Amino acid sequence: MFREMLYQGYERLLTGEITKHGVPRHIAVIMDGNRRYADRVRIVRYYGHVYGARTTEQFLEWCWELGIKQTTIYAFSTENFSRSETERDKIFEVIAKKLDELADDPRTHERRMRVLAIGETHLLPAYLQDAIKRVEDITRDYDGLCLNVAVAYGGQREILDAVQDMARKVRAGKLRACDIDESVVSRHLYTNGVADSDVDLIVRTGGDIRTSNFLPWQASGSECAAYFCAPFWPEFRKIDFLRAIRVYQVRAHERECATRRTLNLLAACGYAEIEGVVGQVKRAICR
Ligand code: IPE
Ligand code: IPE
Ligand code: MG
Repeated sequence: MFREMLYQGYERLLTGEITKHGVPRHIAVIMDGNRRYADRVRIVRYYGHVYGARTTEQFLEWCWELGIKQTTIYAFSTENFSRSETERDKIFEVIAKKLDELADDPRTHERRMRVLAIGETHLLPAYLQDAIKRVEDITRDYDGLCLNVAVAYGGQREILDAVQDMARKVRAGKLRACDIDESVVSRHLYTNGVADSDVDLIVRTGGDIRTSNFLPWQASGSECAAYFCAPFWPEFRKIDFLRAIRVYQVRAHERECATRRTLNLLAACGYAEIEGVVGQVKRAICR
């Protein structure tokens, strides 16, 4: 009882602090630790994934409450194909069920949330591909929020696919090699069509400090903040989420200070009037 009151008080305090500052536009999460959670509480491992999916639902709700526009969740990596067939099937079932629920959930439509699967989805079983297609089709025209579900996803593969796609266009005369820049590459990634896929904050649960081939391109462009925490995904709480946001805000503040210093230095050298420089600095501060 006392513990619960303390928790709620802390959650209110953190929320109050966080809403005074800017929140990330795009948050990505590596939802790790489902099986270890199941082992610890002595339930069948499959239920670890089921409980994990419940946390995902809450997580999306927290993102919405804070006004975060874009979310990418790592549901299944290309490396995860090496798991046993039984486990893969169970995970695919959970993902398909959740995508079906999302398609039917009134909140998806009220919030105009576009759902997009990113990854080598052709490698997935037909029923999961159908569930993906259904939710993507239903939400295709929405522009309120964006949820990317990384499934059969590998970051290097995504970049390779983009490179091959661009090479084909160059050969067909539809793209000039000299015109390939960051924005052209971004448009050839799986998130093509979704404005600004750069990630501002990556969260990983489960205690491991690595990014497991997740969004290498999108995370580097924005020099995104990272938050690694110990709780397994099924036990990830709102205060963990709020702490992650706070890490992003501290990082954003540090960057703002560094940018201001650069601006002051330029001013001291007599360069502050140069419109381009000032514009760039302002954009960096506002990110
Ligand atoms: C993350 O939890 C979910 C997926 C990779 C699908 P894990 O299944 O990796 O669980 P742990 O990390 O082994 O506990
Ligand atoms: C990362 O978890 C991938 C997902 C959460 C889908 P893993 O458990 O597969 O990652 P590694 O193998 O420990 O890096
Ligand atoms: Mg894991």
